[in-house]
Amino acid sequence: MSPSGLRASPAWQALARHWQALNGTTLRQLFDARPDRGTRMVAEGAGLYLDYSKNLATGETLRLLQALARSRGVFARRDAMFRGDRINETERRAVLHVALRAPRNERIVVDGKDVVPEVHEVLDRMAAFSDKVRSGAWRGHSGKPIRNVISIGIGGSDLGPVMAYEALKHYSRRDMTFRFVSNVDPTDFAEATRDLDAEETLFVVCSKTFTTLETLTNAHAARDWCLHKLGGDEAAVAKHFVAVSTNAEEVGKFGIDTANMFGFWDWVGGRYSMDSAIGLSTMLAIGPDRFRDMLAGFHAMDVHFRRTPADRNLPVLLGLLAVWYNDFFGAQTVAVLPYAQYLKRFPAYLQQLTMESNGKHVTLSGGRVDYPTGPVYWGEPGTNGQHSFYQLIHQGTRLIPCDFIGFMRSLNPLGDQHDLLMANLIAQTEALAFGKTPAQVRAEGTPEWLVPHRVCEGNRPTNTILAENLTPHSLGALVALYEHSVFTQGAIWNIDSFDQWGVELGKQLASKVIPQLRDPMDPEPDHDSSTNALIRRYRAARTARSG
Ligand code: F6P
Repeated sequence: MSPSGLRASPAWQALARHWQALNGTTLRQLFDARPDRGTRMVAEGAGLYLDYSKNLATGETLRLLQALARSRGVFARRDAMFRGDRINETERRAVLHVALRAPRNERIVVDGKDVVPEVHEVLDRMAAFSDKVRSGAWRGHSGKPIRNVISIGIGGSDLGPVMAYEALKHYSRRDMTFRFVSNVDPTDFAEATRDLDAEETLFVVCSKTFTTLETLTNAHAARDWCLHKLGGDEAAVAKHFVAVSTNAEEVGKFGIDTANMFGFWDWVGGRYSMDSAIGLSTMLAIGPDRFRDMLAGFHAMDVHFRRTPADRNLPVLLGLLAVWYNDFFGAQTVAVLPYAQYLKRFPAYLQQLTMESNGKHVTLSGGRVDYPTGPVYWGEPGTNGQHSFYQLIHQGTRLIPCDFIGFMRSLNPLGDQHDLLMANLIAQTEALAFGKTPAQVRAEGTPEWLVPHRVCEGNRPTNTILAENLTPHSLGALVALYEHSVFTQGAIWNIDSFDQWGVELGKQLASKVIPQLRDPMDPEPDHDSSTNALIRRYRAARTARSG
């Protein structure tokens, strides 16, 4: 029996039997049996429309998956999250990103304290600061207004801001430059600053802990760059640096006045923080009102997730279908394919959200799972991906469930190009589902030897997610949709979706290797033979360079 009893549970066993019975049934057969699937297996919420009819699933599958969710306590756990319970058990923390978008009149109590007023106090300070910068009232050290914003952060303190900036570029201040530095590779900083005037540049240093190696290194590089360009006067730091963090002490040690710090709380996970003060660069780009529209979109999906019955609940459906493919079909990945160039960083953002959350191999009580947990998420915008990796999805040997995301309108209408974009999205979901039979291939006059090569089996499952337009509101709803889908999956697997212990080992080992690379007199490093040889090779090159 599995540590959590998941596999042995009646709900799981019922799904396993159902999978056996369904296995081999094609999407063609499913649509023939229920021709109204395309209008029946759909759900709407928070301005998003989900068509899940092109899945290898029947009404019975969905009923059994919902029964699994109930038996795993998904809905009780959801309510516990919204209540502020410490559901991040290994870090003993509440998980309250939903409080970041709660309206002013809501009450969410953590340790006897309503956190909503603090959230709005920070939002108001962010708004006042953004207005000052955007209006030119905030001046740099030499008196020039700010025209460039560089956000420095990594992981959850970077991917959300980058994604949101790219996604909402249409709404951003085009006369300002926004850049993002995350990598400790000095190239990232050099390229971000090479053509900028320090007198007009503001750095937003984002780090929940304010101890992250990459971010602190880049922040120091920014400080040196700024002081060097501005004549070395330390007073310049106050005009050109603001911090976003939970750690006022470290912010102070770095030299940023904590009056220029925007806080958040330990109950906001890094990968769930783009709607906290970590989104300051987003607010600077699109303005406070649009930022609040984005929060309203998040909140609309929160309400939908909390209140809508499971059979019409978008994140629940998306999460359950992900479990279905992951655990019963053995699918190892999910492709996320936005048909919107502005969403080009959305898959990268989702990778941290989904994989740092559900890439876990033990249950909450510490026993090893005996079922697959989080799948690999990946993707690229359509139509570009169609001319690259879609071939493998159509005719390869792996099952890759796909989420297609599209919008009814273009933000940049150009002739009929948006029709072409959306025709491709719709056609891909049709081609993946129904393929092309040998008879159809032959009917096109294909020589017999070529027939097997041109046959597409179909049965490649897809979800289609549509919204009217890409707006701050719809982006918020979309991100919250995936946040809660991740939650649903993690609750079924009984894992902690809110910790990330696995990333610590690499950090620890790097801090040991750093001095070993630098010190040529260091004795033989004490790792394995491969690691030792790599260290020696780099050290020799470094010594040759400096000698
Ligand atoms: O290394 C992983 C991680 O801890 C992420 O979870 C987090 O988003 C990122 O590093 C950055 O952390 P911080 O915001 O504390 O700099």
